[in-house]
Amino acid sequence: MSAVVSRLTVKPLHPLFVAEVTGIDLTVPVAREDFRAIWEAFNEHQVLVFRGQAFTDETQIAFSRNFGALETMEAHAANNYKPGHIAVMTNLDAQGNLLPLDDPGMVHRLRNEAWHTDSSFKPVAALCSMLSGRIVPPEGGNTDFTSARAAYAAFPDERKTALDNLTVIHRVAEPKNVDDPAYSEEQKKRLTVTHPLVRINPVNGRKNFYVGSHAQEIIGMSPEQGSRLMDELAAFCTQPQFFYSHVWREHDLVIWDNRCVLHRATTFDKTKYKRKMHRTTVAGSVPDTALAIMPGTA
Ligand code: OGA
Ligand code: MN
Repeated sequence: MSAVVSRLTVKPLHPLFVAEVTGIDLTVPVAREDFRAIWEAFNEHQVLVFRGQAFTDETQIAFSRNFGALETMEAHAANNYKPGHIAVMTNLDAQGNLLPLDDPGMVHRLRNEAWHTDSSFKPVAALCSMLSGRIVPPEGGNTDFTSARAAYAAFPDERKTALDNLTVIHRVAEPKNVDDPAYSEEQKKRLTVTHPLVRINPVNGRKNFYVGSHAQEIIGMSPEQGSRLMDELAAFCTQPQFFYSHVWREHDLVIWDNRCVLHRATTFDKTKYKRKMHRTTVAGSVPDTALAIMPGTA
């Protein structure tokens, strides 16, 4: 029996990572052969852009589950205290009115404007996030991405051996601010974890630095030394050649690989324009090698 070949097309948007996928409606159940094409493109290109996907929360959740179990957001200022599978990144209140800039959720979401990777402060860090553009401002409010895989490949080889086996402490609390009032003592304790500095994609063996705003110290180094190295690697990873800025259109869906891509929100005129993005987050696995095969494959 010959395999059914997917009709999706995958077009790179950047020389090193990011591709736009066309030829599929993700708001209805996706055939296995199409998901296989998406899974392969995701492991290769790290960031996938789909246009014209008019999701509801239900259809976004249903599509996201192809990648595995979803994370559940804790009730927190970051998501307007709404627990569940959808994190709402917005400057609007429940009635759709602009929130004041000093609203606690607005202040908290400013942290998204630092380079980070989602849920790196959890014992099982996220596999991928999917952001659906529900209301998009006419200017500004891009999401920036950088490939820490392309950066690792470009990093001087003679320094890699010293870095390959290091372990990093990630904290939910704001970098260098252990008294961060946005989190309870219990959350700060539970959401302080360690991960390897260098991660390996189990499908293709490509390595990357796993850094970002939550990566704060290195086991076996002084806090100052560790934080200096983290800053150096983050600066290396976020150079212009590894960088892509996504200009949103309504109904875009962007999926990024949290294992190897850093991202940040960019600002816009929050006193003038509305922006509402709904995010689902797929949990990863420990060890990473459990994801060498496509999720849902027996
Ligand atoms: C996120 C995030 C960036 C943005 O949803 O995890 O960082 O542009 N969002 O809203
Ligand atoms: Mn994020």
